[in-house]
Formats: sequence, C-alpha cells, structure tokens
Amino acid sequence: MPEFKKFFRVRLGLGAVIIACQTSPFCQAQPVKIQAPENPPFKEIFQKGFRSQGIASIDRLTQDANQTFCSDPRRAQSAAGMKEARMIEQRNLESIKAPTDGVYLGDWRNGEKIAQSGRGLTWSDVPETPVGGGCYNCHQIDEHEIAYGNLGPSLWHYGKNRGSSKEVLIYTWNRISNAKAYNACSQMPRFAHSQILTEKQIQDLMALLLDPNSAVNQ
Ligand code: HEC
Repeated sequence: MPEFKKFFRVRLGLGAVIIACQTSPFCQAQPVKIQAPENPPFKEIFQKGFRSQGIASIDRLTQDANQTFCSDPRRAQSAAGMKEARMIEQRNLESIKAPTDGVYLGDWRNGEKIAQSGRGLTWSDVPETPVGGGCYNCHQIDEHEIAYGNLGPSLWHYGKNRGSSKEVLIYTWNRISNAKAYNACSQMPRFAHSQILTEKQIQDLMALLLDPNSAVNQ
C-alpha cells in the first residue's frame, strides 16, 4: 500500500474515534463536583491568628458568597464556575444604586485627596476618621504623583481618552461602586457596596477622572 494511503487510513481511523468520542456522553468531560475541603484545624489556626481591635472586628474573616467563590480557584475556573461568575457579575450590577441627586461629577480637587488617602477602617482608626479610597495603591492617576501601584490600569487621561457620555458616566460610577459587576473576582474593592466611600466621595472621584478641568485630563 502506498505510504500516503496508509497515512490517510490511520488519520481517518483516528478522526472517526475522535468524532465518536465527541458525540458520546462517555468521553465528554464530566462536570466537576467541587466542594471546598473542610479543614477544621486550619480554620482554628486561622481564627486564632486574628483578634478584634478598635474598629476592626473579627467578623471581617467571614466571607460573603462572592468572596467564597473567588477564594476557590478550582471552582472559579471550572466550566460551571465561569457561568457562576457571569451570574455574580449580574447580581452585583443589579445592586448598584445611581447617584440619588442624579449628579455624577463632584469636586475633582477633593477627589484627588480621597484617591491619595489610605486612612479609615483600619484597627488604628477611630470611627470619625474620614475614609480614603487608596486608589493610588493600585492605579496611576495624576501622572505628577510618582508613588502609585500598578495592580490596576493607569487612569491618567481617563476622561480625555473616553469623553463623558452617559455610558462613560454610568460605567465609571458602577466600576467605583462595585467593580465585581464587571469582573466577579476583581481585586478592586467595592467602594459603595462595602460602604467604604459615601456617594459624595464617589462623585468627587468621578470628577477627578472625568472633569475636563481635572489635573488628570490636562
Ligand atoms: C486593590 C487594588 C485597587 C484599588 C485600591 C482600586 N482599584 Fe480600580 N481597578 C483595579 C483593577 C485590578 C482594575 C482592573 C479591572 C478589574 O480587574 O476589575 C481596576 C479598574 C478600575 C477602573 C476601570 C478602568 C478601565 O479602564 O475601564 C476604574 C475607573 C477604577 N479602577 C477606579 C478606581 C478608583 C477611583 C479607585 C479608588 C476609589 C480604585 N480604582 C481603587 C484595582 C484597584
């Protein structure tokens, strides 16, 4: 038999097996049943490693359903997990409240102060400490600030590049309010959802990013 014929016979044979396999329930990947392993000794050590102090209480160790999902990479990355992630995003999106006074942009200068500040909500803070956004921890914002993290994308020229259409206003408001509406396991804190920032503070941060007069858009 000429070589090429043999080659095709083998290839065809293999192809038939693959097609048969793809249509048969036996060969298809079975949905993975994933259950977080209960590990009481670990739980105990973990709980013992923290204590409530000042305004930071131990209940911070309790994860909500969103956090539990994202803390289990095998679950989050499974085919079922991908679907679950879309549902989580939808739930987060639906929970976002538009500004009550309908105003999206506040004072950009104040927004810069909030973006700079990492104070508030830590054990050494008192309840009256104004809470900051700590946005520079993860983002470049005004390019004149040289101390910034890069876990998130640069927000320099944010408004200059995108304009301030209704869509951009709503998207940015939603992102700051609850980033998990767009990425179920986003590392960005949910500033409105978790009651970190007030509506007024978010309006000021919006102005920092979108006001044409803001230092960010020069
Ligand atoms: C712990 C890190 C972290 C902090 C703190 C943080 N972000 Fe983010 N941010 C991210 C990441 C990561 C992304 C990329 C998208 C994603 O994964 O959700 C992002 C995305 C964004 C986006 C969307 C950018 C785009 O191009 O669409 C905006 C707007 C934004 N952040 C604003 C802010 C503001 C304002 C603050 C402060 C109130 C802030 N972020 C604080 C991590 C952070």
